[in-house]
Amino acid sequence: MDLSAYPYLQGNYAPVADESDFSEGQLTIEGKIPQKLQGAFMRDGANVAYQPNHYVYPLDGDGMVHAVYFKDGHVQYKNRWVETNHLKTERQFDRAIYGSVGKLLPVPQEVIDGGGEPSPIRNTANTNIIYHGEKLFAMWEGGFPHLLNNDLSTVGLYDYDGALQAGDALTAHPKVCPDTGQLVSCTQRWDNGNYCVQVFDAKGKHLKAIPIEFDRKGIIHDLQITKNYVIIFYAPAFHSLEKAMKGEDPFLWEPELGTKIIAIPRDGSGKNIVFETDPFFSWHFCNGFEQGGKIIIDYIWISSIPFSTAQGSGVEKQPRRMYRMSLDIGTKKVTNEQFSDIFCEFSRVDERRMGKDYRYGFAASSNRDWGDAHGYNCTGRYDFQTGETKLWEFGADANAGEPVYVANPDSEREEDGWVMCFVYTPDEGAFLSVLCAGDFDNGPVAKVKIPTRVPNGFHANWMQGLTLS
Ligand SMILES: [Fe+2]
Repeated sequence: MDLSAYPYLQGNYAPVADESDFSEGQLTIEGKIPQKLQGAFMRDGANVAYQPNHYVYPLDGDGMVHAVYFKDGHVQYKNRWVETNHLKTERQFDRAIYGSVGKLLPVPQEVIDGGGEPSPIRNTANTNIIYHGEKLFAMWEGGFPHLLNNDLSTVGLYDYDGALQAGDALTAHPKVCPDTGQLVSCTQRWDNGNYCVQVFDAKGKHLKAIPIEFDRKGIIHDLQITKNYVIIFYAPAFHSLEKAMKGEDPFLWEPELGTKIIAIPRDGSGKNIVFETDPFFSWHFCNGFEQGGKIIIDYIWISSIPFSTAQGSGVEKQPRRMYRMSLDIGTKKVTNEQFSDIFCEFSRVDERRMGKDYRYGFAASSNRDWGDAHGYNCTGRYDFQTGETKLWEFGADANAGEPVYVANPDSEREEDGWVMCFVYTPDEGAFLSVLCAGDFDNGPVAKVKIPTRVPNGFHANWMQGLTLS
């Protein structure tokens, strides 16, 4: 492959060619693995298998999952592509066939005649990996999730026993309610503007659909839960399939419309509350909760839509900041303030506090300027009690991924858990960093060094109790 034309396929954004299995003897452990950790750290991301037809951002690449399994103080590593129908078709023809979300290509007749995947919209399965109801899913927001086995082999597309209809696109960012174990998710569709909150019970059985009609399908990537509400941002950011099919830039930003914040009652009763404010865009919430007639939302703010179809436009590198928003339910007043001036993304919390008052947010953070492709060289801790932001820097040239909070099963204190992410540095190579959440002064308590590269990717999670056998 010649990937030289693509900024987001350079350096640690470049794909790896192999699927690997490393036992503990092939990994190098620095520090001490906490014995209490029983489960797996997994991260999804883009890893192109063939020379792409069009590639601007990692959202265009084939999904690959990297996993470190923990059991009784021992570790193993695996990585596997998600075997989507699109990837299997490209393997059958031994070349790239499909375009990207930004530039759809017609599927050649010979591919359709040969039994290949007929949809031009590639389900990349590259965005998130979750474990809910004892099932493991690779997620992508434009279609169905893919069910995986614990060893990362692919079972196939999953429709939640018929709850998802043809054309439903399930978000890659569901939230798990820590009180009920419910998965609060949503579907959108390519063929109309309708948005639908979807609630599944702790075992993954579909419980409820709460529909909302929008005139236009917005780019709504994440959702947040509080005790009584599902919160979404409806930014003036839209995607036009017609433009994508014609090869025109399909990403639309219409700031005159402002951004709406919509609070949807979780029980499906009562009216949605709509708040209106100045235009902004956001990929990710950090957390949210209700307090004295207000809804408090912490999230990553971006001034406008952060992508186009053009290579090297730089729009994706505009400032991203941790913000705290306050929504007054009675007056509909919106207060929106920057919490920290650190460039950050991929915000996470102790999931036991999802939707509740809490102290710490964690985010991939940066204290340096980047060149053609941006990244993050630190894990940041955002203390909403003191207002302090603390960074652990892995080195000026490091690439640090989404930091996942892993609870200490013996403690309720946020400070007693761990924060894990994949890191790559030119000197150390790839490793899984295990930081103590309460100690950002002394660096990782353990590093699991992996004898291959782990490319930069998207979302990760801790799969409590998931083991290989
Ligand atoms: Fe995301």
